[in-house]
Amino acid sequence: MRELLYRIAEGYVPTLSEIENILSLNEEDAEILFKIADDIKKLYFGNSIHIRGIIEFSNYCRANCKYCGLRCSNDKLIRYRMSKEEIINCAKEAIDAGYKTLVLQSGEDLYYTKEILGDIIKSIKEYADISITLSIGERKFEDYKYLKEVGADRFLMKHETADELLYNNLHPHSTFNNRMSCLKNLKQLGYQLGSGFIIGLPGQTLRTIAKDIMLLKELDVDMAGIGPFIPHKGTPLGSEKPGSAFLTVKVIALSRILLKRVHLPATTALGVLDKKYRDKAFFAGANVIMQKIEPYNYRKLYEIYPKTLEDKKSIKQERQELEIYLKGLNLEISNDKGDALIL
Ligand code: 5AD
Ligand code: SF4
Repeated sequence: MRELLYRIAEGYVPTLSEIENILSLNEEDAEILFKIADDIKKLYFGNSIHIRGIIEFSNYCRANCKYCGLRCSNDKLIRYRMSKEEIINCAKEAIDAGYKTLVLQSGEDLYYTKEILGDIIKSIKEYADISITLSIGERKFEDYKYLKEVGADRFLMKHETADELLYNNLHPHSTFNNRMSCLKNLKQLGYQLGSGFIIGLPGQTLRTIAKDIMLLKELDVDMAGIGPFIPHKGTPLGSEKPGSAFLTVKVIALSRILLKRVHLPATTALGVLDKKYRDKAFFAGANVIMQKIEPYNYRKLYEIYPKTLEDKKSIKQERQELEIYLKGLNLEISNDKGDALIL
């Protein structure tokens, strides 16, 4: 196993069966996987972590993903939209607190036309030289093109699962092919591209996860969010089991060894499920953390999965506490924008 992992670190592309074996390692044997992933992370990124600020600006969603609390069929959820001014003010406050990357995320909400989003991007970019990442779901090629032209730098859109049948079953409003063509369009337009997937979806196997990792490689992504499934009562998958935090960390570690330069967050979902494993992820390949920065009254409504809320603080105070926390783990805080590492 050790030899196989070193070969992958040197460029060997493992078979799906080999990936399944690696992902089956027990706690004790997985330490070598984590150690190699940590070494590769340090080689590419040193000891520093990028903190990204995320503004979840609307919880309206036209999509109906069977696992997500924001799905359009969930009529129990109170919906909100932040105004242009609210979003821009939140962004400015975050920039003043030290953020160099802001992620603008929402459900698939076409209320925000490309012109509205464009105005927001332009205003933020006029205020400071930071990176803007969009995470707004499937749109027309023209929209993606316009938003890139006005200044968006990056785009996050997970492929969720590489199993086409499972994908189509979990996403009744769209198709796997459609998602792939959106991801390819974004890449072609020159966005720094993030994909990712969920660990522990009902119907998923280790083979599916092996294919998920290989799909990240094929898409040549710059970033990948890999998080565990957390059941939400207001969805058709509400009574299913959550994903495994341990398996999630193994998948992050193997992705680091295989993909090398890619930005990998210790995902929010991993932290919600098990804080201990989220910390572990920083020593098993992860080099990014995302911090919510929208006002608190919206945070509780952006309920993709159930979670408890932290005490109310200012954006600046919250960032300082996060920095202290990371430093307490002997990690450093990155001072740059954390662009895609192109070799
Ligand atoms: N558990 C874990 N992750 C989820 N997501 C949506 N619902 C859930 C859930 N119940 C993730 C998806 C999506 C991102 C915004 O949140 O991967 O891309
Ligand atoms: Fe909407 Fe995204 Fe949730 Fe799907 S995962 S329902 S697209 S917010």
